[in-house]
Amino acid sequence: MDIKQLAQEVYKRTNVETTARDVEKVLAGLASSSHFWEVVCAAQKPFSVVAEIVGVLKSEGLVSIDEEGDIHLTQEGMEFLKSSRITPRKDFTCQACEGRGIGLEKLKELIQKFDELTTDRPKAIIDYDQGYITTHSVISRVALMAERGDLQGKKLLVLGDDDLLSLAASLSGMPAEVVVLEIDDRLVGYINEKASKLGLPVKAIKYDFREKLPEEYVGYFDTFNTDPPETIEALEVCMTRGLTALSGEGCAGYFGLTRTEASLKKWNQFQQMLVNKFKVAITDIIDNFNHYVNWDYLLGSIRDDYTFVQVKPRLNWYRSSMYRIETLSGFERLENKPMPCELYVDEEALIYRPDRKR
Ligand SMILES: [Fe+2]
Repeated sequence: MDIKQLAQEVYKRTNVETTARDVEKVLAGLASSSHFWEVVCAAQKPFSVVAEIVGVLKSEGLVSIDEEGDIHLTQEGMEFLKSSRITPRKDFTCQACEGRGIGLEKLKELIQKFDELTTDRPKAIIDYDQGYITTHSVISRVALMAERGDLQGKKLLVLGDDDLLSLAASLSGMPAEVVVLEIDDRLVGYINEKASKLGLPVKAIKYDFREKLPEEYVGYFDTFNTDPPETIEALEVCMTRGLTALSGEGCAGYFGLTRTEASLKKWNQFQQMLVNKFKVAITDIIDNFNHYVNWDYLLGSIRDDYTFVQVKPRLNWYRSSMYRIETLSGFERLENKPMPCELYVDEEALIYRPDRKR
């Protein structure tokens, strides 16, 4: 089987388009790490694609799996790499900022305050696909908004907030007001309790993004922030809600989008939606900006047919790119109405349960 055939076999198994270059990237990842989650992180391809590439490589005898679930290139695999001119993946990421381009030296106090305040934060639960980002990621997000002029003295909407960005942002003293719309009662209660204890200008309200935006918040905010589920349907609903909340031109939206649960084909489809339907400009895409803290339910929620997948992650492997969009002159709001969103999980999702619709 050559690389091209291998890619076709993976496409057949996953229903996610896979190219020879994708296979090369996974092979380059395997040449530098034997840990599945590190390879997923490095390859920047949907989880299912990486898993199936390794699966096919195994059945072709190019890799072997040890008792720990680590993946090793066989002699044949190493020869295959050599003849295909594939070398170990190179990594030149700036260690100081982890590649975000945000210096945190001036924000040490904020980091400490946030960590102290949130030690008793609610655990990530599967019901709402939760998983929260590291302190450095959340503080960098605050810094990014501040740097772009979207935070100081501004009204900020946080649509879904298991990251507790609302608390981080308000602890900085910069935003005039922060509103959290959140489906999880535990988080609504937690955020409100912390805010009132510290006198922070934050209010959390229970909200399901399929419902229309509360009327008082239509056109109310300067900035929104969200981390949408990554099906095209859910992305569309989230962007509609966020943009409906903005007051006019020159406002900004921030959100994360992964490569692990969204193929580049989906990225393209989504980017077209942003530009053509929502008529915004995409000003920033910062690779691997948001690093997620490993969550307890991962291994129980994903496929269990490959032993190399059922391995506890040894790094914060799940990451998303930081998007910033900006509204332009002539900004027009879409109709504020309920949007039933059936699809939370597609073939690119980490959790694959065809029976599970929420
Ligand atoms: Fe840096």
